[in-house]
Amino acid sequence: MASSVWNDNKILRKWVLKNQKKFFDGNFNFDMMDQLSDPLLEEISKKIGVDKNYIYVGAGSSQFIPTLLSLKCWNRVFLATPEFGLYTRGVSCYKDKKDIVEIPSLSCHDFVEKLANYKSSKNDFLCISSPRWFSGEKFSMEQIDTILHCFSGVILIDEAYISFSNEPDGLINLAKENERIMILRSFSKKYFLSGLRVGYLVTIRDMKDFRNTLLPPHSISTYSSRFCVALLQDEKILNIFSNTIEYMKNNRNYLYEALKDEKNLTIYASEANFITFVVANEFYYKKYSDALRGLPGIQSFHLQDVYFIKIWIADLRFSQIVVERMKGVQ
Ligand SMILES: Cc1ncc(COP(=O)(O)O)c(C=O)c1O
Repeated sequence: MASSVWNDNKILRKWVLKNQKKFFDGNFNFDMMDQLSDPLLEEISKKIGVDKNYIYVGAGSSQFIPTLLSLKCWNRVFLATPEFGLYTRGVSCYKDKKDIVEIPSLSCHDFVEKLANYKSSKNDFLCISSPRWFSGEKFSMEQIDTILHCFSGVILIDEAYISFSNEPDGLINLAKENERIMILRSFSKKYFLSGLRVGYLVTIRDMKDFRNTLLPPHSISTYSSRFCVALLQDEKILNIFSNTIEYMKNNRNYLYEALKDEKNLTIYASEANFITFVVANEFYYKKYSDALRGLPGIQSFHLQDVYFIKIWIADLRFSQIVVERMKGVQ
């Protein structure tokens, strides 16, 4: 079973060893350069085809989430729940209860329908993940259009898992033409680099002061920055990640096909690097959690009255074991 692509793949291990001295050269000072000349910003800008003035690089998407939630300009913050804890926990640090609108939604369809019942203003802020943190389900373009139509404020679309979807370019192009859309991206999932803390935000909104909250040395480390610049410049290495992602998508789809008709489970077609099983009730939740005990990459949740188990995709053997164990539950 794969523990880490960076450890398990010989070419990647060799690449890190070869470049280690360059990344970690003993000079730990920060070069207080003009922020727009940051080599990582330039590299990301080339890769995604967005002017660097509209990209903000930070220490993981996690650096952006609380910062964005805490901006004074928002009237109310809307969330589709269950959602990633940095949103649900973060928002309660910055907003009074009355200014938080949580919309419990199991499917994207469910959310879009419910959102239409709420009035909003241009100073409201909606955060959604797509693919969703909860289920891996991705909002369709039609659903995003409907959201844009019925919600009047600014929409943050967190695309942490987008590389595992069928449209890995995501909605960057929409953010390039619509200042109500912000896109958040992470290096943690696509490049399996969660420990290096690298992410970025794309928006054409006027956010000048915002860049000053991301000033080095209080954001991304020199090591991570050098590592990611070298990575983005190396097509051969990038290719390894494309192949790994394709392999994982197959292993995820295998799980979906094998278990989609199981009684007591609801499975959404995930476009992320995990798959979620929503379990009918507490009794089966315990049974399935017990059946999967001891396997790596299993997370069980009971949030907002929903029982669900997230399975982080690995190799084919792992998917097969999960299927065997889950099918054994009576
Ligand atoms: C939806 C979502 N956004 C953001 C993050 C955090 O990403 P990063 O590692 O770039 O901070 C996660 C991590 O699990 C996530 O699920």
